Amino acid sequence: MKPIKRIGILTAGGDSPGLNAAIRAAGKAMIGEYGWEMLGFRDGFLGLAENRYVKLGKNELAGILTLGGTFLGTSRDKPHRMIINGRERDMLGTITANYRRLKLDALVCIGGGGTHKNALRLVEQGLRVLTLPKTIDNDVPCTDVTIGFDTALGIASEAIDRLHSTAHSHHRIVVAEIMGHNAGWLALGAGIASGADVILIPEIPYDIEKIAAAIRRRSRHGTNFSIVAVAEGAKSLEDAALFAEVERKRKNARTKEEKEYAKLRMTEFDTKHSGNTLRLARHLEELTKLESRVTILGYVQRGGTPSTADRILATRLGTACARLVVEGASGVMVAARGDGVKPVPIAEVAGSLKLVTRDHSWLQAARAVGTSLGD
Ligand code: F6P
Repeated sequence: MKPIKRIGILTAGGDSPGLNAAIRAAGKAMIGEYGWEMLGFRDGFLGLAENRYVKLGKNELAGILTLGGTFLGTSRDKPHRMIINGRERDMLGTITANYRRLKLDALVCIGGGGTHKNALRLVEQGLRVLTLPKTIDNDVPCTDVTIGFDTALGIASEAIDRLHSTAHSHHRIVVAEIMGHNAGWLALGAGIASGADVILIPEIPYDIEKIAAAIRRRSRHGTNFSIVAVAEGAKSLEDAALFAEVERKRKNARTKEEKEYAKLRMTEFDTKHSGNTLRLARHLEELTKLESRVTILGYVQRGGTPSTADRILATRLGTACARLVVEGASGVMVAARGDGVKPVPIAEVAGSLKLVTRDHSWLQAARAVGTSLGD
């Protein structure tokens, strides 16, 4: 009798719609199609370190396709720097031992940038790891799209649609802050889809005078309201220069003192940067004499049932992952490529970001319909 093969699965990083759909797809294929056992680890890599898991079967995988979030739970804990009982500990050895003791033949990690860096650390420990790209930010390289992005795009677009009526009725500037971390995909996509008049993204530092000029131009032509879609990571030209200097100091820091100082400057910058959207709105009000109001979309963009596109993407990638595991693949991300998938070495993904390029077709389309990008 051949020993039954066993696979582990975990979800890590920010939650997103489509995670449960991906767990369901990988689980149904691994268990139903290929006869493996599957253990679902709680709360990302923390569950793997603390040996907290649930055996997955028909009951656990039933009825979760349309549920938002992840029933396994998630965390941003890093295997090599985990806070256990209030102390930071390197848990890579414990995780490796748990993996071996549980006789896992492979481990699937579903997550974004941070998860791929952590998955690579497990690959370097000799574990057999595959990953699925998930984040509403869509900033994972080497894949067409990430699980969760389409749903968040729809939520943000619908929210901005709704903001048009109040902006129009009150002749106001309404600024909507959109998630995306250091990438502008969500703000750019939602801004285009909802006809925002101004779209500000981290990849294009903005000149507030140019934004004000665009809004004043609209007023002169009788349209005295504007919608500004601003990515949470968007920066003014001044802030971008300050951030680049702080980042340079951080990268060049060698001594303990230099590292401490760089960390302090980064914290100062982050503190200064938060509330950036409120300051931007107030500054635009001063420059244009139009009232301004702010709506921060926040975690609404990560909630609720996945879109049909994300359900299909999650099912495609989850089942393809199962097939790749059975075929012996290891150390790869299951990337979405057109209608198919492509296994991409995790080493090529970890530590990289997919950002909006200056020549991207979405930027060209936004400019062509007269959207101001702040530059
Ligand atoms: O990575 C997804 C994301 O929602 C980002 O857009 C956002 O900046 C971040 O997570 C928020 O992190 P947390 O959930 O830890 O507050």
